[in-house]
Amino acid sequence: MDPVFQTLETPRLILRPWRDSDRAPFAAMSADAEVMAHLLAFASPEATDNWITRQQAHLAAHGFCFWALESRESGEFIGAAGLLRIGYDAHFSPAVEVGWRLARPFWGQGYAPEAAGEALRFGFEQIGLQEIVANTVPANHNSRRVMEKIGMSHDPADDFDHPLVPVGSPLRRQVLYRLSREGWAARALRPATQAGL
Ligand SMILES: CC(C)(COP(=O)(O)OP(=O)(O)OC[C@H]1O[C@@H](n2cnc3c(N)ncnc32)[C@H](O)[C@@H]1OP(=O)(O)O)[C@@H](O)C(=O)NCCC(=O)NCCS
Repeated sequence: MDPVFQTLETPRLILRPWRDSDRAPFAAMSADAEVMAHLLAFASPEATDNWITRQQAHLAAHGFCFWALESRESGEFIGAAGLLRIGYDAHFSPAVEVGWRLARPFWGQGYAPEAAGEALRFGFEQIGLQEIVANTVPANHNSRRVMEKIGMSHDPADDFDHPLVPVGSPLRRQVLYRLSREGWAARALRPATQAGL
């Protein structure tokens, strides 16, 4: 496997390395207050751009990242989804998280669960991870719904204060969802209708 050129596909989506042409649609998505409602805002256009550069570096170092999401049918930029090594100390680290952010025109079509499901498969089957986590603020019901749809579970005892979010910020308190390799494998054997998708 050449980690730098890792590309994944689902029935409707391509998860692929970032291109310079993604920078403008990523910046537009990142300027949408509804998309960013539960995420830390970027401080500047440079910070937005640096987020993509960090994904490219993570892909080169580890063979995975939050990939750019592209529509197979239209080639449009849809957003970002994938896997990242947790970059801070917490009671559950070291860990790999699955995550997503989609431009608003693409919400409500099951794209995030579809992309995340492929990221989970890659994480468990190809990287050999034992567990994948996800986190967000308690109020991010859309994202928590995606976590449930992909089979992750939440134990309130795991909730934590995010060390990279300033004290006093409403984004500091986070819920943690987990999925074990065994839980994923058991679920992957079931038909999609029974698995709740
Ligand atoms: C979270 C997010 C990726 C959802 O992706 P998606 O592809 O729309 O996922 P789904 O189609 O499965 O929808 C998930 C839930 O979002 C809600 N939702 C979907 N479309 C919506 C819309 N247009 N407006 C409001 N809520 C919507 C619904 O509650 C839905 O659950 P349901 O299918 O049981 O009705 C998207 O909301 C997003 O990008 N949010 C902003 C970024 C973010 O918070 N990322 C996660 C950080 S942890």
